[in-house]
Amino acid sequence: MSCKIDYAAPADLLRDRVILVTGAGDGIGRAAALAFAAHGATVILLGRTIDKLERVYDEIEATGGPQPAIFPLNFEGATLKDYHDMTETLDKEFGRLDGILHNAGMLGRITPFEQYNPELWSQVMQVNINGPIWMTQALLPLLKASDDASLIFTSSSVGRRGRAYWGAYAVSKFATEGFMEVLAEELEHLGTIRVNTLNPGATRTKMRATAYPGEDADTLRTPEEIMPTYLWLMGPDSRGHNGERFDAQPPR
Ligand SMILES: NC(=O)c1ccc[n+]([C@@H]2O[C@H](COP(=O)([O-])OP(=O)(O)OC[C@H]3O[C@@H](n4cnc5c(N)ncnc54)[C@H](OP(=O)(O)O)[C@@H]3O)[C@@H](O)[C@H]2O)c1
Repeated sequence: MSCKIDYAAPADLLRDRVILVTGAGDGIGRAAALAFAAHGATVILLGRTIDKLERVYDEIEATGGPQPAIFPLNFEGATLKDYHDMTETLDKEFGRLDGILHNAGMLGRITPFEQYNPELWSQVMQVNINGPIWMTQALLPLLKASDDASLIFTSSSVGRRGRAYWGAYAVSKFATEGFMEVLAEELEHLGTIRVNTLNPGATRTKMRATAYPGEDADTLRTPEEIMPTYLWLMGPDSRGHNGERFDAQPPR
């Protein structure tokens, strides 16, 4: 596992690339969408809260980035048909995808497994892993149309080593790591699509504040501060890395 926190991305790193960011309205996804656009990417902003996506859209426009697109989608209720309709729409509009940052996620509850609610468990698995998997399957033709595509799945420390009380969240992140390895090996022969996981590490967002309510958020890196590894992994400098696990910041 390695981390590229000191990576200095060239200004045009992602010029002419079309990149989908899930959960782009808030937290790390918002920062990634802004960073990708600032480095030249046309960003497709996917999320469930339209006004948040519109604010990110406006910020990108105001800073002179390439015109983004908004794609409202809630992983909780989305169906295979939604993912295929999405592929059709993006195909008509862009003809290809040069990257996906799978970032949307939910925490569920931090609670002893004995008390874990099965409905909440299914909901977390749906949003954090099942939805993203089927969306990826539908979008594969668009990724294959790119000559250098990067698929990034967001992991977590608890997806690499289990921790008491983290329940479905930890299990969904272990599944994310496993799925990354399966897909990376299947696509290896193409030589044009790389698949990796990225653990942001403790980052100052709403999800982190919910998980650690007593923590002083000022001791945490902001989403903007962890962007170098995101840029490196999305851009051409990480070409050749496939099936690997990365960290966006050194361990605290
Ligand atoms: N922050 C950390 O310390 C940390 C550490 C390890 C891993 N992570 C991972 O990093 C990623 C981003 O987390 P974050 O800290 O930035 O959390 P966040 O601020 O809570 O943002 C999560 C994003 O996911 C979206 N989302 C949630 N449920 C969704 C659904 N059903 N359909 C579509 N979008 C949905 C949210 O949309 P709304 O804003 O509309 O709710 C939001 O944009 C997650 O995968 C998380 O597991 C974070």
